Amino acid sequence: MPPVRDLPIGVFDSGVGGLTVVRALMERLPLESILYFGDTARVPYGIKSVSTIEHFTAQITDYLLGRGVKMLIIACNTMAAVASGVVKARAGGLPVLDVIEAGARAAVAESHSGAIGVIGTPTTVNSNAYARRMHALDPAVRVYSQACPLFVPLVEEGWLDHPVTRLTAQEYLRPVLAEKVDSLVLGCTHYPLLKPLLQDVAGSDIHLVDSAITTAEQAAQRLAELDLARRGDTLPDYRYVVTDIPLRFQTIGERFLGRSLGAVEKVEW
Ligand code: DGL
Repeated sequence: MPPVRDLPIGVFDSGVGGLTVVRALMERLPLESILYFGDTARVPYGIKSVSTIEHFTAQITDYLLGRGVKMLIIACNTMAAVASGVVKARAGGLPVLDVIEAGARAAVAESHSGAIGVIGTPTTVNSNAYARRMHALDPAVRVYSQACPLFVPLVEEGWLDHPVTRLTAQEYLRPVLAEKVDSLVLGCTHYPLLKPLLQDVAGSDIHLVDSAITTAEQAAQRLAELDLARRGDTLPDYRYVVTDIPLRFQTIGERFLGRSLGAVEKVEW
């Protein structure tokens, strides 16, 4: 077993969307190795029940722990919303970060008016996880949430700047913008890819909170606090494990990652 510092960070998501978090981690922590798990055979999670998501999340957590990681990052907002307790219970003291904690902290810190919008999958929005977390940090904030179920398929289709996506965004954002929010949390792995379009629809005075970037920042802080940051000058190791390799996997994955994907391994459970 290599020294703990040299172990990879385990990052997982329901599919390829969590690669937005991997991309932010690569930029913020260029020395860290990453082991990514995407449950591409069972995506989407955002419309599934809590008990199913808990079951899948437990399987993924056990798999990553078995491979050896020094930190776990729940890159999927839906898993973070309803199953972070499952991960923490199994992690046995290993640091566990998630996109909701990071996004909620950033939104509360950055909002001036205290009126914050959250967009995410139906399961994330119904769980009220973002609002609960933000209220725990500041009981005075007002949180307005909106489920945007069509965004995930539109992003996977590559329609990042398409009239259909624009119309859909106008429709989804209307009720949230009517509440005069000054910040909008992108509460789903796929939404950072829609940032330019969403900024356009929301208006330039609305601050978009990208939880991928804030999660990478939090990971850097925790590794430093725990003295777990990797040292030396050897290149980090990036590995991608998925439960299925669908036809367009490579192109979609590279869009999320913003660079070539390299070797992808299909899981043997
Ligand atoms: N990864 C999910 C999320 O961040 C989006 C895709 C899905 O529904 O599984 O909520």
